[in-house]
Amino acid sequence: MIRVLVTGGAGFIGSNFVRWAHNAHPDWQITTLDKLTYAGRLDNLADVAESSRHRFVHGDIANTAVAAPLVRESELVVHFAAETHVDRSIQSAADFITTDVIGTFVLLEAARQAPALRRFIQISTDEVYGSVPEGASTETDELRPRNPYSASKAGADRLAYSYWATYDVPVIVTRASNNYGRNQFPEKVIPLFVTNAIDNIALPLYGDGLNVRDWLHVDDHCRAIDLVIEQGTNGEVYNIGGGNEVRNVDLTRRILDLTGRPGSLIRPVADRPGHDRRYALDTTKLRRLGWTPAAEFESGLAATVDWYRRNEQWWRPIKEKDQAFRDYYKTQYGNRAGA
Ligand code: NAD
Ligand code: DAU
Repeated sequence: MIRVLVTGGAGFIGSNFVRWAHNAHPDWQITTLDKLTYAGRLDNLADVAESSRHRFVHGDIANTAVAAPLVRESELVVHFAAETHVDRSIQSAADFITTDVIGTFVLLEAARQAPALRRFIQISTDEVYGSVPEGASTETDELRPRNPYSASKAGADRLAYSYWATYDVPVIVTRASNNYGRNQFPEKVIPLFVTNAIDNIALPLYGDGLNVRDWLHVDDHCRAIDLVIEQGTNGEVYNIGGGNEVRNVDLTRRILDLTGRPGSLIRPVADRPGHDRRYALDTTKLRRLGWTPAAEFESGLAATVDWYRRNEQWWRPIKEKDQAFRDYYKTQYGNRAGA
């Protein structure tokens, strides 16, 4: 059996990856290490809860005593764990530095002493390139992160690279675009807007709504990570983009169409400070390895809306009963004047 450590496996992409990999690789013995922050949920891992090929460890990646032994016993580390929401990083950046930078440092230090380690996949993000007014970012482009989240991720991205260049730790960095799909925490724009629309609550669209994001289905992301593990080259960076550039206002209208709600639910609100206008990725390098995204955005979004409709038991307790989420929502949107 191949010993695989997945950090942040109780979150959105991590749990989709654990489920996907558990099905695709019967020879993987997977350990999920997760702190279960507000974004981490054990029920995301319900499909593998009874499996003898999966083990859950509750712990912090920044705690060497917990994290280092797990890294040292692994052949493969897929490092998703992070604070991930840009708006929260603007409210308060401290946890982003502690987890995204120092947590990654702790894992990399342990990786230097992991005798069987053959891959350390650093899950980075397209946000490290900063706003891209035209064209598409290639892996060798300069990094110009512009918010505390993306700056923390850029720090971790380059720190991971440095452990390859300096200590020969078998690091590969991936930079993906905006993911969508099941189990995404309802602070991110798609699940927030879908669940608000279901409830006939206003959809708070930042600024002029013309910012562009490139949407990647989470299953396509999982396949890309898997391909990079099998066929990537240590020390390299791989962009993973869905090729679906959509303006926020158009995304919002599609969500309203899919939920059968009127355009009057759109509420233009004050913009996010430092709001990156556009992200776009050149994915030639990954495509040369044989990857191409399978999901078509229209049907993928419809299936995602359908998932939130059928799984109210998953998101309603967060939005209606979780006081921490309600406080966050109030701070983020309560006093937001119209744009
Ligand atoms: P998420 O917020 O849904 O989940 C993050 C997970 O990490 C949670 O389970 C949380 O409990 C865990 N975690 C947080 N701090 C931890 C700590 N100190 N120790 C252990 N576990 C901790 O995030 P996501 O959207 O699934 O993103 C996963 C990764 O992918 C992140 O590294 C993110 O930067 C990257 N990424 C996300 C996207 C996207 O669109 N969501 C796109 C590109 C890259
Ligand atoms: O690009 C990859 C990144 O995508 C990941 O690295 C991040 O972890 C992930 O959170 C995501 O970042 P974004 O900031 O792009 O995602 P978010 O869902 O927060 O916002 C998407 C767009 O929607 C962005 O232009 C801001 C806008 N938006 C968002 C929210 C939450 C709104 O207009 N209103 C909102 O209420």
